[in-house]
Amino acid sequence: MLEDSSFAIHPGSEQQSEAVVYRDIGAVKELEKENGSYQFVCANGRVAIRFYTESIVRIVMNPKGEPIWDKTRSVVAEAKQVNVEENDTAELYELKTTELHLSITKSPFRISLYDRTGRELVSEAEHGMAWQENGEVAVCKQMQENDHFYGFGEKAGFLDKRGEMYEMWNMDVYAPHNPETDPLYESIPYFMTLRNGKAHGIFFDNTYRSWFDMRTFTDRYVYRAEGGQLDYYVMAGPDPKHVLEQYTYLTGRMPLPPKWAIGYHQSRYSYQTEEEVRDVAQHFIDRNIPIDVLHLDIHYMNGYRVFTFDEERFPNPEKLVQDLNEMGIRVVPIVDPGVKKDPEYPTYQEGVTGDLFCKYLEGDIYFGDVWPGTSAFPDFTDEKARKWWGEKHRFYTNIGVEGIWNDMNEPAVFNETKTMDVQVMHRNDGSPATHRELHNLYGMLMGKATYEGLKNQLKGKRPFLLTRAGFAGIQRYAAVWTGDNRSFWEHLQMSLPMVMNLGLSGIAFTGPDVGGFAHHSNGELLTRWTQVGAFTPFFRNHSAIGFLYQEPWRFGEKYEAVIKEYIEMRYRWMPQLYSLFAKASSRGLPVMRPLFMEFPDDEKTYNLNDQFMIGDNVIVAPILAPAVVDRAVYLPEGEWIEVSSGKVYQGKSTYLVHAELEDLPLFIKKGTTVMQTDWTSNKDKSWKRVRMDIYAGDKGEHYRFTYYDDDGESFAYQHGSYLELEVEVVSTEEAVKVDIVDRRGDYVPAYQQIDIHVIGRKDSQDVILNGEKENGNNYLSLTE
Ligand code: GLC
Repeated sequence: MLEDSSFAIHPGSEQQSEAVVYRDIGAVKELEKENGSYQFVCANGRVAIRFYTESIVRIVMNPKGEPIWDKTRSVVAEAKQVNVEENDTAELYELKTTELHLSITKSPFRISLYDRTGRELVSEAEHGMAWQENGEVAVCKQMQENDHFYGFGEKAGFLDKRGEMYEMWNMDVYAPHNPETDPLYESIPYFMTLRNGKAHGIFFDNTYRSWFDMRTFTDRYVYRAEGGQLDYYVMAGPDPKHVLEQYTYLTGRMPLPPKWAIGYHQSRYSYQTEEEVRDVAQHFIDRNIPIDVLHLDIHYMNGYRVFTFDEERFPNPEKLVQDLNEMGIRVVPIVDPGVKKDPEYPTYQEGVTGDLFCKYLEGDIYFGDVWPGTSAFPDFTDEKARKWWGEKHRFYTNIGVEGIWNDMNEPAVFNETKTMDVQVMHRNDGSPATHRELHNLYGMLMGKATYEGLKNQLKGKRPFLLTRAGFAGIQRYAAVWTGDNRSFWEHLQMSLPMVMNLGLSGIAFTGPDVGGFAHHSNGELLTRWTQVGAFTPFFRNHSAIGFLYQEPWRFGEKYEAVIKEYIEMRYRWMPQLYSLFAKASSRGLPVMRPLFMEFPDDEKTYNLNDQFMIGDNVIVAPILAPAVVDRAVYLPEGEWIEVSSGKVYQGKSTYLVHAELEDLPLFIKKGTTVMQTDWTSNKDKSWKRVRMDIYAGDKGEHYRFTYYDDDGESFAYQHGSYLELEVEVVSTEEAVKVDIVDRRGDYVPAYQQIDIHVIGRKDSQDVILNGEKENGNNYLSLTE
């Protein structure tokens, strides 16, 4: 009988001499119902099922006892009251909501899930849920021939993850970031399956080291973790966008960042003195190159002690921050978690006397080597430590800092395992657990401590936080950059699918170090990378000690001019980008998207790695190799206008396009529109004029979008102070009609009107604004 037998489903076990023995969950013995949840007592463990919404179901298998519902740091949603239709036959239990249909065989216990149309989402066959004596939990799902996999957070390699195997274990990887380098700094144990144009998602809410294997078997995939419960959610979709809305409904969405954080950031490991920082800032001002942020890397500190400035090199940080703020530049200092072991250093003293550092069960503080030498690490799993750490940021906010950069928060330790001893026992807000269990949460909880501290101190201003490590839900606190890449063309190429998959994992505000961190950049690479950076949600040029400086002017005038042009372009696109950030904040949709997100029925987009979309109507097809000035571009359904030339391309075809160093192939769908402003100056970056560029169609194209704006710096938007315009554009042979079909919020921006600019209009076409034929008043008033 199955429940008495053990078998091997360990990925790769076919090749292994010693099979790993898993115990199957076995047959259902009993069903207990309680408060909207169903608990199946099976031969080898218990499985509980609860619907969170009509389209999200949570499944928890606990081999050792009662499934535990309330132990998660990633999920912020509560289960809603959902009506479930039940059906119990000799072989099956069926549970149905309006969107999901669960069918469970009783012997052995196997789950299949369908959407309301009967489309199969996930199913189990010979193998289902299982566990090992050593605590490992696993589940095996059927994989269909046309399944494509996306998400998994920050992963190297191509967009479509079919054929890959990934590990979730936050890891500091300085080098090499090859296609097979895994794991990296972020762990997002979540993915989306695209099958025949429809999508569904799975979020495996387990913080232990875990693996997703879409490689070993041709007909099934497995995900498993070293310990804990087999706790996962299935999201019904049916479109990729729905899956993301569902996933971010569970794990939360990004609060709107301040507008300045969406601008250009310049960094270096490190600008080592106040003079150097001022000099870099002055270069930007003198050259009139847009910049919003200068980062201070570890050299600003006294011996790498966090919450200090080196008195010789940074004698007057307050004046520095103020002067830069007056130039229109924010200062974002780095803060690492390691606190130097130094009995004369107040932060260390407080951590020890306040009992705030990570410790072993036996009571000894854990020490590890990082930049400052031997260091202790705050226990961010503990509310007391989080509060303390958050409060410590007054050190920065008191001198005018509004953003912080968290690094080394995997946590990174200079030892063989690259991290903290897994035997460290975290306080975990009253339910102590080992670092083995909570490792992947460390960076996110540092982010929580920091973000909440900053928010508290900034008195209504939005903080900005950048992080290297994170877990599912990190988007609630921080933007993510992709760590220590190199100044290689290959890394520029790899950053596209990586950032797209991060976006598909709920993290919209993300980007790589533009120009490459380690190794020497060069003019051509930096120029091409800046062209991409102008459109990646997070836009920061950063480079490492010991390698060439790579500020925009470092490689000569020829390159500087083009780099400047593209940083300016970023600022011209701000109204469009900000509207997309608002969508990320309200619905969880990425700013930078793979094409399949908008064209899920088009197979050509399923593994398209070298182009991406901004929102739903703009395709960016950058040049990603040296000396290349021609490239193939795939354009999906529709008609597309090349922005630089005005040339119209018919979709569903591949074209060879030409792009000299100063060109970035950029295509906008006919019949749609983008919002633009002018770049004015660093000192005053407020939008003086906002323009709606309509790319006229003539085939009855119908386009709707939401224009969003607010003060860009406060939380007043959460209380109604925003402007949201629901705009509809209809293009026919006779007319281009623009209608504001809805207006929400009570914010009135200083620019008071939106200029309308129709591109590619035919003589036969009238422009009709809000039902009236335009008679020279080519604008929409925001004050009427
Ligand atoms: C890590 C970071 C990098 C930073 C350096 C020094 O390598 O990833 O961005 O510059 O540490 O702080």
